[in-house]
Formats: sequence, structure tokens, C-alpha cells
Amino acid sequence: MTHIILFGPPGAGKGTQAERIRDNYNFLHISTGDVFRYNIKNETALGKRAKSFIDRGELVPDDVTIKMLAGEMRQADDKNGIIFDGFPRTKAQAKALDDLLNEQNEKIDALISLDVDDNILIERLKERGKTSGRKDDADENVIRNRIQVYYTETEVVKEHYNEQNKLQKVDGVGDIEAITKRLNKVIDQLI
Ligand code: C5P
Ligand code: MG
Repeated sequence: MTHIILFGPPGAGKGTQAERIRDNYNFLHISTGDVFRYNIKNETALGKRAKSFIDRGELVPDDVTIKMLAGEMRQADDKNGIIFDGFPRTKAQAKALDDLLNEQNEKIDALISLDVDDNILIERLKERGKTSGRKDDADENVIRNRIQVYYTETEVVKEHYNEQNKLQKVDGVGDIEAITKRLNKVIDQLI
């Protein structure tokens, strides 16, 4: 199985592109943000635990997120691989993911980083907020906090996989279709 982390700050286009990769390559798409939102909507214990963090644009504690992720990975049996979208978001999450895969004699094949300027991210998220119904897209202060959290807590994940020679950078600015083509070129070399 191929395991790819689609990486980048909020608004980089991870979700949009991960869905296309899922369909093109028959991968399991795990969006930890989507799983949290599903749990919040259904008022599960997990959702109640995660909601206040998410509404403020902060990270849910690692132990909660890692446990949830491990559960999601069990659905990968009949797939060609997994595309991770929004996970790992901390160094501890990256190490936990490496350990989980290692136990199954698997590994991360690549972290693909979607590069987009901060001012474009803010514009995209404000635009998305008009229709997404997401509380964390509706307030510019929360949007800015999420981008800040990306730089303080998440960007180290890129370095973690760079040290393993697994970092691939893709320009995340342009047409959705053009970006998909750039990503496909990278993924075709991995599978
Ligand atoms: O990935 P996405 O932008 O959908 O995530 C939405 C929110 O979910 C994040 O801003 C964060 O509050 C929470 N989250 C998290 N840890 C993750 C993924 C998402 O805390 N690994
Ligand atoms: Mg997303």
C-alpha cells in the first residue's frame, strides 16, 4: 500500500485535492477534520471533547486525535493506499503515525506539501466561509489563529519527513485541475 500525507496550511487545498487523489487512485481518504466535524454534528463524546478546540482554531490534544486516526486506518483493507489530509499536525502525531505503520510493516511514502502564500490562504478561507457553514471559517481572527498554529505546531512535520527524504513540494496556486496534474505527476512516481 502507498501512504501519502497531503500537507499544507489551512486553505492550501488539501481536502479538494485529496478527494481527487482518492478517486483517481482508489485510496482511502482520511480527513481528520472531517471526522471531527462528523462527530461534532452527531454530538458524540469525541465531538464534545473536540468542539471547543476546533471552534477556537486550536489543535485537539494528540492522544484524542491519534486514537481516532488509528480507528480510521482500519478501513483501508481493499484500497491501494491511504491519503492523509490534515494529519499529522504535530511532531508527536507524526511519530505515532510512523509507529502505527511500522507495526504493519508499512511506511509513509511521501509528504507532499502544497505551497500557498498566507494572503491567498486567508482570502480562500474567507470565501469558503460564505458556504462551508464552518464556525472556524467564519471569523477572520480564528482563520489567522489556525494559520499561526500551522507555523508554530505543524510545520515541523515537514522537517520530520524531509529528514527521511520524503518531502515533495507542489505549487498549490492555480486552477484546481492544474494542481491535480502536478500532484498526479508526483504520485505516479510513488506507486
Ligand atoms: O483539517 P481541517 O482544517 O479540516 O481541521 C479543522 C480543525 O480540526 C483544525 O483547525 C483543528 O482544530 C482540528 N484538527 C486537529 N488536529 C488534526 C486535524 C484537525 O486538532 N490533526
Ligand atoms: Mg480540509
